[in-house]
Amino acid sequence: MAFELEITHTQGRARAGTFTTPHGTVQTPAFMAVGTLATVKGLDPLDLRAMGAQMILANAYHLHLRPSDALVRQMGGLHRFMAWDGSILTDSGGFQVFSLEGLRKIDEDGVDFRSHIDGSSRRFTPESVMRIERNLGADVIMQFDHVPPGQSDVPVARDAMERSLRWLARCRDEFARLLREDADAPTPEQALFPIVQGGIHAELRRESARAIVDMGAWRGFGVGGLSVGEAKPDMYAMLEVVDDVLPTDRPRYLMGVGYPEDLVEGVRRGVDLFDCVAPTRMGRNGAALTQDGRINLRNARHRDDPGPLDEGCDCTVCTRFSRAYVRHLFTSDEILGLRLLSLHNVHFLVALMQQARTTLADGTFDAWSTEWLARYLAGER
Ligand code: GUN
Ligand code: ZN
Repeated sequence: MAFELEITHTQGRARAGTFTTPHGTVQTPAFMAVGTLATVKGLDPLDLRAMGAQMILANAYHLHLRPSDALVRQMGGLHRFMAWDGSILTDSGGFQVFSLEGLRKIDEDGVDFRSHIDGSSRRFTPESVMRIERNLGADVIMQFDHVPPGQSDVPVARDAMERSLRWLARCRDEFARLLREDADAPTPEQALFPIVQGGIHAELRRESARAIVDMGAWRGFGVGGLSVGEAKPDMYAMLEVVDDVLPTDRPRYLMGVGYPEDLVEGVRRGVDLFDCVAPTRMGRNGAALTQDGRINLRNARHRDDPGPLDEGCDCTVCTRFSRAYVRHLFTSDEILGLRLLSLHNVHFLVALMQQARTTLADGTFDAWSTEWLARYLAGER
């Protein structure tokens, strides 16, 4: 059944399972590659399939501005438009409009902002964002939330958290109306995920999660406002607080996180879904993820290195190309260099979550994750 999570294995707070959407099943824990503009930069959906990606993320804010959600709908919805028939999640734009420092004005009803593309005046409300996400047609859509700056004090974090709850009620009602009255949208059956806010304050996180749980029969939960400059132990502590409150039989999606170590630490604390621009952005900067930490291919020490980007990786890049070759592409500004690094980096995180699932299934996750983190972090120092 759509939007069921079947948990197959657990170890401590960590879980492995299968999340079903109208566009297939997602083995969890899973990493979602980021396709903000309905493209995972440089990668064809066929590449994504081949590397085992199951679900990707797109962004309502960007696609509303260009090419517009109306056009995407006219073209049959996101899946058809970008030729990805797997699962898709759209973020609501909450995070993006609140990042437009100086370009936005918040009131209780919504947010006025200026387009980063042409400076035109725009307004998002919980209702308008639900209509945008309905038109785009992702399987999972996120609520419109108020994301406070990282490390906000209690009054600021509380204000944003409480506004996010009020906006959630409005998203829920508008989404219910659309399900009834806009039945021939590109993906008729979608799931709305709420977003737990509360900054790095345990009592606010607990209050946010409890209030959300009381507000509806959600098919899954977002955890937002993290990895925005707080210390990692603070983020990990918030995940434990939230894990204690949220129902165990629904997926938890940690938004915008993260680096390899964050994924492993997140799985250890009950997170099922992740997304992050890091692998594709790093790839464009010449950085590759390896099990011994990040390396930069621009570094001269890779000039005559015949080895693969990562010795443990079985991606189509590592099995065919040397570090020396990828470095050559980068220093020559060849576009294949960007593409190969994006392929490897996305594969690295997709495969990392696959290892988490495998070790959860055979009962070795605790030992595997401890060893994996020790090796990776030793390389990062
Ligand atoms: N992406 C990363 N963090 C957040 C968040 O808190 N809210 C939303 N909507 N998107 C995010
Ligand atoms: Zn590789």
